[in-house]
Amino acid sequence: MYSDKVLDHFHNPRNVGFFEDAEGMAQVGDPDCGDYLFLFLRIRDSMITKACFLCRGCPAAIACASVTTELVTGLPVNDAWDITDETIVDALDGLPEAKTHCSNLGATALHIALFDYFHRKDKAPVELEQRGDTGENDGS
Ligand code: FES
Repeated sequence: MYSDKVLDHFHNPRNVGFFEDAEGMAQVGDPDCGDYLFLFLRIRDSMITKACFLCRGCPAAIACASVTTELVTGLPVNDAWDITDETIVDALDGLPEAKTHCSNLGATALHIALFDYFHRKDKAPVELEQRGDTGENDGS
């Protein structure tokens, strides 16, 4: 059974769309189910000012993508890095056990889009090393 928040984000997904000139972009897919997600970030002065997504996926995947765009908007990029699949599940008031893996799409896409941004800005070695992050995302 989905929470009211999951159903709301599935029926009324926020920030659907794309930026051709995004500062950070990611494309991720789940090979087990075939679902995929594109995430686009608008970043100004190291702050995520807007995020949007395109998704072909289950209701949980769409809800996770939608709430991810809300979670990151207005965050400094280094704070957005701390968002995990658990953050996303909590923001949706939980997911059914069989659907918790769907949150990986949102978290993984976010981290890849941030890497894309850091790579374009040539910031990754300094900013991520200072935080002690390895750059590895195990998707958990
Ligand atoms: Fe594929 Fe949900 S079943 S992401």
